[in-house]
Amino acid sequence: MRSIYYFFALTFLVLFHGPVNSQSKNYEKQIDSLLSIMTLEEKVGQLNQLPLSWDTGPSSPEGDKLKDIREGLVGSVLNIKGASKTRGIQELAMQSRLKIPLLFGLDVIHGYKTTFPVPLAESTSWDLEAMENSARIAAIEAASAGIHWTFAPMVDIARDPRWGRIMEGAGEDHYLGSLIATARVKGFQGKGLGSLDALMACAKHFAAYGAAVGGRDYNSVDMSERMLREVYLAPFKAAAEAGCATYMNSFNDINGIPASASKFLQRTVLKGEWGFQGFVVSDWGSIGEMIPHGYAANAREAARLAIIAGSDMDMASMCYRKELTGLVKDGVVPVSVVDEAVRRILRMKFTLGLFDDPYRFCNEGLEASTLSKPEFRAAARDMARKSIVLIKNEAETLPLKTGKKIALIGPLGKSETDMLGGWSVWWDDNSDVVSQFEGLERRTGKENLLYAKGSSTRGDDRSGFDEAVNTAKEADLIILTIGEDRDMSGEAQSRSDIGIPGVQEELAEKIFALGKPVVVLLNAGRPLVFNRIAEKADAVLLTWFPGSEAGNAIADVVFGDYNPSAKLTTTFPRTVGQVPIYYNHFNTGRPSPDDGPSRNFRTGYTDLEQTPAYPFGYGLSYTKFDYSDLKISSDKMKEGEKVEYSFTVENSGKYAGEEIVQLYIRDRFASVVRPVKELRDFVKIKLEPGEKKTVTFVIDKEKLSFYNDELDRVTEPGFFDVMIGASSADIRLKAELELK
Ligand code: NOJ
Repeated sequence: MRSIYYFFALTFLVLFHGPVNSQSKNYEKQIDSLLSIMTLEEKVGQLNQLPLSWDTGPSSPEGDKLKDIREGLVGSVLNIKGASKTRGIQELAMQSRLKIPLLFGLDVIHGYKTTFPVPLAESTSWDLEAMENSARIAAIEAASAGIHWTFAPMVDIARDPRWGRIMEGAGEDHYLGSLIATARVKGFQGKGLGSLDALMACAKHFAAYGAAVGGRDYNSVDMSERMLREVYLAPFKAAAEAGCATYMNSFNDINGIPASASKFLQRTVLKGEWGFQGFVVSDWGSIGEMIPHGYAANAREAARLAIIAGSDMDMASMCYRKELTGLVKDGVVPVSVVDEAVRRILRMKFTLGLFDDPYRFCNEGLEASTLSKPEFRAAARDMARKSIVLIKNEAETLPLKTGKKIALIGPLGKSETDMLGGWSVWWDDNSDVVSQFEGLERRTGKENLLYAKGSSTRGDDRSGFDEAVNTAKEADLIILTIGEDRDMSGEAQSRSDIGIPGVQEELAEKIFALGKPVVVLLNAGRPLVFNRIAEKADAVLLTWFPGSEAGNAIADVVFGDYNPSAKLTTTFPRTVGQVPIYYNHFNTGRPSPDDGPSRNFRTGYTDLEQTPAYPFGYGLSYTKFDYSDLKISSDKMKEGEKVEYSFTVENSGKYAGEEIVQLYIRDRFASVVRPVKELRDFVKIKLEPGEKKTVTFVIDKEKLSFYNDELDRVTEPGFFDVMIGASSADIRLKAELELK
């Protein structure tokens, strides 16, 4: 009887499999059919994701993974790459009874083979199209190499630079962060899942991971639902609206509940309010980590809590694999809950077209002809130059004229791997990466470029100082390249001291003492504190980790082939004691004036200025932009109306350049206190020397709205400040708006 049943069900399935159009939206009948013939073990298998990067033998911590794949007990694997390797593993899945294809996931965070700048760096371009294109190229390359799914974009708002993962996101602002989340999801998913060059995106880490207490990775988060919804969930919501296929739980507990067990996040908000149809994967081991969290007594309890809460797939903890079948058999977890999770995963496998052809992404010929195409490298170079922030430029030190003798000094000058940044895909050979030395040498000629390493990024070895000083003495100008190495930011890289590490500041002092012009290249994956360097250097370029084309992009900026236009998306503090510091804070009942330490019982620190070292939105150019002639369509706005703010921006300097023009508002009084400034719009414009352009911002009701105390998105009548400027602290034009 059973076998006849299987026969009919399989025939039905095969008929439906036949010419399935992977672009069509509705696979529910096929999924019903498949679910009806799956054993409980096979269903639970679909919810299980295994790492395949290391030990795959029978004695690996996760058991005999290859055997499990052959038996149809695995839904997805992560961390293998390449068309041939993924094909080999998919062949094992095709030996299983129901031949349900595997999903291959990988952290394709800022490029696959062609590496783009780290995400925080990219965000400083404020160039949504370029960021979408960067994700697009990453997807084209990775999909050609057998990957179906990237664990990106990371859309966590981060206001604490001690947190190493600030590097992976888009900074501190949720308005900009939401637009970037949308751009990246669109880039990864391209024309739609099912296209051969699209990856499933994964918005992570759901949620509020960036608010970990003290910036300590994996730590707790306790915040009001209003703050959560208004700031931290905003980019996740934008990702859902952009059609993001998957979400990943965060490691932190939020208001006492580990995120992987949060029904509120997964069922109420994501799958309920936002109508999300894709699936949720846990973070690596996060379901099992509910035990040390003190939330689940054992793996069985952890599995129960996570599946009930709506975590569909277990990444690597093995709690589902070991416990879920028993939980269903014992009647603790309804099989319908498991079915729903399996349905979500199968839906994505159908959508990707894997039931039509499980090997459709495993094409070695395509992979070979796709990786590192010249046009991809060109896009990476352009993205990198757009991501370099000019922090200081005294006496027009930059751009440099060629023909001068330059000494490149510093530990990162010849490094290739560091240029790729904290979360690039791992390759055995990085010789295709353009180091800083190589890029500068190409531009200035061999005879004009000297080099000495001087020190390492870490430790206290000063033995290279003399050579560095002697080399610098021979040059007309020094380019000092210092900062973090790639492993100092990213996961588990929280730092209590965000200064320049090791003995690099000492090295810098010796170089400054020579009295020659010094241009500093600051390598970083997070905001750093570098006051002494900033004071003594003639020019400072924040280069972050720029990716495969690092040296070329840096040379483009240094020699003025590209005029820097990037602006910070995180506030840079004066000292670590000022952290957290972010531009869109509340005012308090006792605000401090900006011009010095706090006094007369005002908020702030008595031993420090209230302002940051560099504010949100800050970044210089080789040219100058003037703002003038503000025209307002009305100073009052009624229900359903819009108000226009038109003004002129003029390039009054001598170089062509791009300006990121920013619009902020302040709601003066409301039923809940509102930030002193909120970014509500921006535009990036290019102007030739002497050229003027009219810019128009439009304010509608949505731009004035916020979550009230009842968690409704509302606007309230009253007065607003409208501020237009070149950074959050450089407001050039102001107006008042009354909402009637
Ligand atoms: C843990 C990280 O938190 C997450 O961002 C990543 O995607 C997974 N590991 C998989 O590597």
